[in-house]
This record gives sequence, structure tokens and C-alpha cells, in this order.
Amino acid sequence: MEIRANTKILGIRGITFDDVLLAPAYSEVLPHEVEVKSRFTRNFLVNAPLISAAMDTVTGADMAIAMAREGGVGVIHRNNTPEEQGLSVRKVKRAESEMITDPICLTPEHSLLDVRKVMEENAISGVPIVESFENKMLLGIITSRDLLFEDDFSLKVRDRMTSGEKLVKATLGTTMAEAQQILRKYKIEKLPIVDAEGRLQGLITMKDILRRKQFPNAAKDNQGRLLVAAAIGVGREGFERASVLLEAGADVLVLDTAHGHSARVLETLSMIKEKFPHTDMVVGNIATPKATEALIKAGADAIKIGMGPGSICTTRIVAGIGVPQITAIVECAKVAKRYGIPVIADGGIRYSGDIAKAIAAGADCVMIGSLLAGAEESPGERVIFEGRAYKTYRGMGSESAMASRSSRERYGQEQEYELKPIAEGIEGRVPYKGTVKEIVFQLIGGVKSGMAYCGCRTIPEFQENARFIRVSQSSVVESHPHDVIITKEARNYSR
Ligand code: XMP
Repeated sequence: MEIRANTKILGIRGITFDDVLLAPAYSEVLPHEVEVKSRFTRNFLVNAPLISAAMDTVTGADMAIAMAREGGVGVIHRNNTPEEQGLSVRKVKRAESEMITDPICLTPEHSLLDVRKVMEENAISGVPIVESFENKMLLGIITSRDLLFEDDFSLKVRDRMTSGEKLVKATLGTTMAEAQQILRKYKIEKLPIVDAEGRLQGLITMKDILRRKQFPNAAKDNQGRLLVAAAIGVGREGFERASVLLEAGADVLVLDTAHGHSARVLETLSMIKEKFPHTDMVVGNIATPKATEALIKAGADAIKIGMGPGSICTTRIVAGIGVPQITAIVECAKVAKRYGIPVIADGGIRYSGDIAKAIAAGADCVMIGSLLAGAEESPGERVIFEGRAYKTYRGMGSESAMASRSSRERYGQEQEYELKPIAEGIEGRVPYKGTVKEIVFQLIGGVKSGMAYCGCRTIPEFQENARFIRVSQSSVVESHPHDVIITKEARNYSR
């Protein structure tokens, strides 16, 4: 049978990570001189172009905290109630700050049991004590040290708190350097800050001061708190979830769907932008220039690209749709650049070299699932199988994840397929890989090398100047280790 040219077939030949290599170029740049600061959204920068995926086996509060400390951002998943998700957002925002401006406090009449509960729920180790929640007059402080040898938790706070002469405090306007001196002088960990009338205004902690030294690259808001994003869905439920998350302190919302170029996503985006015009919205996922333009015109502050490249995705197989990821990034980024809107390449990243390729193709950041699912900080248990440690990793469109309504809604199946969803993802496990710090160190190290090979010092330079070579499938074989038996596993390579 003759195969005729058909106008239904688009001219573009879709290519992905393995179809290209970065072309080496003259360089005066060494990897350690490369700068990987990048745009996350219209108004937010990150110090590392890495975003952890909004998946329930990837990003909870611990992952988001670890990602922000390494300069990236975590997107808290939405496979839970808005309140649970809001709690995770709060946990990230409270993890560190210059001065905590709304410290959790209790009164002298609370019990030690209340103190312990508040400390555990919020992962904090000290609570200022105020006369009442209304007047906020500072009376004392109670810390985990005060409870260390306690047997009787029915006692009142007033029986154990540090107060009166012994209470060390400082007034508003105290600089961070002065606060540090006071903490050092009295060998204490927490310094309550009061106004002229003695009302509690904030709390400066030694832990925060040390963390600033420990994580100099952290991505933070203008109050020194870690950046965090959170996922929402479409419609009224998405809108209500957005309100809860913004109240909890989310910096950015991610309108997280399988088909961003759809009426209900555009409607939800407009609705949220109308009510919360100052909130940056990442919207996706999409894979075409038309979709990019539509979302930007509807108010998106960053676009998320990726239909089917993810390691756990079966969308391309089940529904037969998708655009190979390098083509999708190149085509969408061209449009987004015209509007000055950043793009996030979501899915399919297997090695640090893929991140370099995604950025060279035009992405400002990449979103990562499988490479982070094996981290210590991802939700879920570590399991041992045949002597090796693994963590579970599942697609948000997998059968088990689709048991929850929000996952079905991501794939437009919230009502009709309640009992038998049409899954677009699988469930599995990934090797345990250690901490986010170690993983990010290797990933960013690889990206910096890639940029240095191309002679580029910054991400905008790299996006502008990097060129690709199309490669054959036999070159892919050549690129991977071949004709040897690997005897020692590399930290940044496995197959
Ligand atoms: P990686 O390759 O980093 O991909 O593991 C993570 C991204 O995959 C998307 N995702 C899915 N796509 N079915 C899909 O078609 C799914 O079940 C599924 N779960 C997640 C998502 O964009 C994520 O960031």
C-alpha cells in the first residue's frame, strides 16, 4: 500500500533526551565558576534549577525543606485533604527564618502535655509563653530542655517555664549580629523579641543562624523563610484548596493537571488570578506552542512542559498522545520567551546530563520525580529487596494513586471512573539514594560541567548559545559505558 503525505501528520519530528548531545564549544569557564541561579516563576528565583515533583511518593514537607535548603523548590503534593497539605506548607515555612514573626505560643495555664503536643506537631523545640493570646504580653519561655527529665506532664507551664529575671529577651530592632551575641553570651538557643510594651513580636533562634551558614545556597522568601510551592487541581475544589494553601503561606501554586490546554484549567486559572492576582501560578502540563500561548494569556506565571515523558507514565501508551520532551521544551520555550515567562521541563530526567539538555533546550528549571523518590527525605518507607534498599515510587495516575479523587481529577476522571479508573501510570520502586543534599550535589555538578563544556557561565547564556547534535541510536550505545563489566557503582550513574 502506498503511504501518502498526509496533512494530518505534523511536520516536526519529535526528539528526546537520547536523540541529542550538547555540542562542545570553546570555553574559558571551569565548572566551579558556573552559576546555576534560574527563574522559577515570573517573580521567584531559585539558586538551583531543580523542582521536586508534586507526587505523594516524592514531595511532602521533609522533601520540600531539603530541596529549598539546596537552592531548589518542592511542590507539596495534593493527594490529601487541603488541611493536611496546608500543614505541610506551614511546616516548611516554619522550618527556618531570620526572625519568626508569628511564633507559636502558649499561656502559663496550658499543661506540659500541651507543650509536648505543640512541639511535636510543629517540629519546634521552644515555645514563648504569653499572658493571653489576645494581649501577647511575654511572660516566659519553655523549651524541650525543660521537658527532658519531666515525669509529670499534667503540670502547668507556669511550674516549669523560664520567667522573670532569668528570661532573656530583646527588643524590636535588634540586629541579627546583636541577637547572635546575646544568644552566645547566655548560652541559650531562643531569643524572644518584644515591642516597647513587652508584647511578643518574634523569635530569633540559634538553629536558624547556624542553618544560614550550613545552607548558604537556600532558596528563601524576603523574610528568610524557605520557599515552598503547593499543587492544586481544577474547579471549585481547586479554588478552595488554593485559599487554604495561601493562608498556610505557600509562595507559589502549581495548577497540576495531565492536560493543561483544556477549558477547565484555563477557567480555574482565570478564577484564581482574579481572586489572588499577586500569587504566582505555575500551570501545566502542556507540550505545544498553542497551549503555551493560551496559558500565558490566561495569566500563568510559569509553564510546565511534559506530556508522557515521566518514568512512571503510561499516558503515551494508554492514550497514544504526547510530544517527545526535547521537542516539547524547544517549541514551548520559544513562545514563552517572547512573553518573558519561565518554563519548567517536567519528567523524563534520568541523569544530570538530561537536566543540562533540558536547560539548553530552553527550560529554566526541571521538575524531577524518580531521581528524588529514592531520597531519604521522600515520603514512604525504605524497603529491602534482595539485600538492596529501595523506596516506593508510583505515578499519580497509577491505579492505587487513582483511588483518591484528586488523582482521578488530575486525569479528568473524578466522577465517571470512580470504581475503575483508566490508569496512566505505574507503581514501582527506585533504589535508595541517600540524602537530597548528596543527590542535588551530583545533579548540579553534572549540569555545571555541561555548561562549562559549552563555554557558558550562566543559565541565560547557556539557553542562548548551546547547540545540539542529533545522534544515532548506536551513538547512545557508545555514550553509555560499554564492553566492560562495572565492578563499582558510581554515585551519579546506574542503568
Ligand atoms: P520522572 O521521570 O521524573 O517524572 O519520574 C515525574 C513526572 O511525571 C508526571 N507524572 C505522571 N505522568 N502518569 C503520567 O502520565 C502518571 O501516573 C504520572 N505521575 C506523575 C508528573 O508530571 C511528574 O512530575
